[in-house]
Order: sequence, then structure tokens, then C-alpha cells
Amino acid sequence: MSDTQKLARHVAIIMDGNGRWAQKRFLPRVAGHRAGVEAVRKIVRAAGEMGLEALTLYAFSSENWKRPAGEVNDLMGLMKKFLLSDLDEFVANDIRLKIIGDWRGLAPDVVALLEDALDRTSGNKRTTLAVALNYGGQDELVRAAKAAAEAGEINADSIAAHLDTAELPPLDLLIRTSGEVRLSNFLLWQCAYAELYFTDRLWPDFTAADLKLALDHFARRDRRYGGL
Ligand code: IPE
Ligand code: IPE
Ligand code: MG
Repeated sequence: MSDTQKLARHVAIIMDGNGRWAQKRFLPRVAGHRAGVEAVRKIVRAAGEMGLEALTLYAFSSENWKRPAGEVNDLMGLMKKFLLSDLDEFVANDIRLKIIGDWRGLAPDVVALLEDALDRTSGNKRTTLAVALNYGGQDELVRAAKAAAEAGEINADSIAAHLDTAELPPLDLLIRTSGEVRLSNFLLWQCAYAELYFTDRLWPDFTAADLKLALDHFARRDRRYGGL
């Protein structure tokens, strides 16, 4: 295991650029999302092989409901198909699935599939794949602050303890593809001291080699946390 692989425990990715990938090929946006699923498959495999403890993927934001209903349906359909086709591989590869965001309000068939997938992978240990579904960082913070208040204590530790990501290692590296340089409401609290890495690569073109490049970049960074 190289130093890079030892260093980053938790990587998150804003998987952006599916639409532009399709547009460049004169294909419908759904073709870009389909190609995006292929990239997810490869990156999840690579993350397991590279020994990451956690990989958090932004799959559907709480703002993505603003898209046309047809595209939202396509995205939900692809999510269901992905779970059905890849769950056995997760089980075989010791990957534990976790869902972050307000996912229990999704369509009942999606919720049922997710519950089954969570259940079947709950004992797995190698890598946690956290999928952000109907996720918004501000929404997560509101929910965490409410839960902390109900527990009678509002401070940084108690809010952190009620975040959707509470049981994951601290976020080391956030990657965003497609050239956009913004967080789009992703992991706002967790990004406080994460390293940020932006690449022009469109998500369907993002490969294991690109992930390795980002991890190498991360390994060279000097994390100071406000100190010297
Ligand atoms: C990311 O690709 C996938 C989701 C947001 C679900 P986009 O669909 O945002 O692709 P662009 O940004 O339009 O290229
Ligand atoms: C962020 O991408 C959400 C996901 C990747 C799921 P968007 O494409 O929705 O973000 P904006 O609209 O460019 O900020
Ligand atoms: Mg986008």
C-alpha cells in the first residue's frame, strides 16, 4: 500500500457533467446518466482496491427536483437498476452501503430497494459507499441541529454527532468533476477542513487513474487546520 492510499480515508465526489457529456455526442441527457453509472461502478471498485475507508458520492441533490420530471424519473430508474445489478458485487467485495440525505421520502419502491441493500451489506467492513440521495447540506445541518437541540446540547461536537455522516471518518478530499468550482450544497459542514480538488473531466470520463491522480495530489498537500 502506498502512502497516498494510507493518507486519504474518506473521499467524496460531486459527480457532475453527465448532461454535457451527452450533449457533446448529440445524445439525450439520459445517455450521459447511463454512462455516469458505468463510471460509478468503476470508481467504487477502484476505491475498494485502493483501500479507501469511505467513498461518498453525490447522486441526487435536494435541488435536483427542479429538473424536468422525465429526467428525475430516468435518474431514479437508473438508481434502481444499479442497485439490482450491483448489490451482489458489493456483498462479494465487502462493501457496505450507506445512504445520506432525506432518502426515506423517495418513492416507496426505491425506499424498499434501498432498505434491502442496506440490510444485505450492513455487516461489510472493507469500504463504506455512502450515496447522497435527496441530499442537501443545509437540510442535513438543520436536521442535525434539531436533533442536537432535542438531545439538550448545541455545540460543534453534538451537531457533528447528528450529521448523516457521523459514523464515517472525517472527510479528507472532495473531488468535483466537469470544471464547475462550487459545492452545490454538498457536505457543507464536512468540507470545513477537507482538501478540494476540481477537474475538468466530465463524470462519465472519470477513471480509476483520475482518482489516483486526485489522491496523489491530496498526499502532497500540507494540512494545517489553522496551526503551523
Ligand atoms: C450530474 O450531471 C448528475 C446529476 C446531477 C444527477 P448533470 O446532469 O448535472 O450534468 P451537467 O452538469 O448538466 O453536464
Ligand atoms: C450537483 O450537481 C448534484 C449532483 C452531482 C448530484 P448539479 O449539476 O445539480 O449542480 P449545479 O446545479 O451545477 O450547482
Ligand atoms: Mg450538473
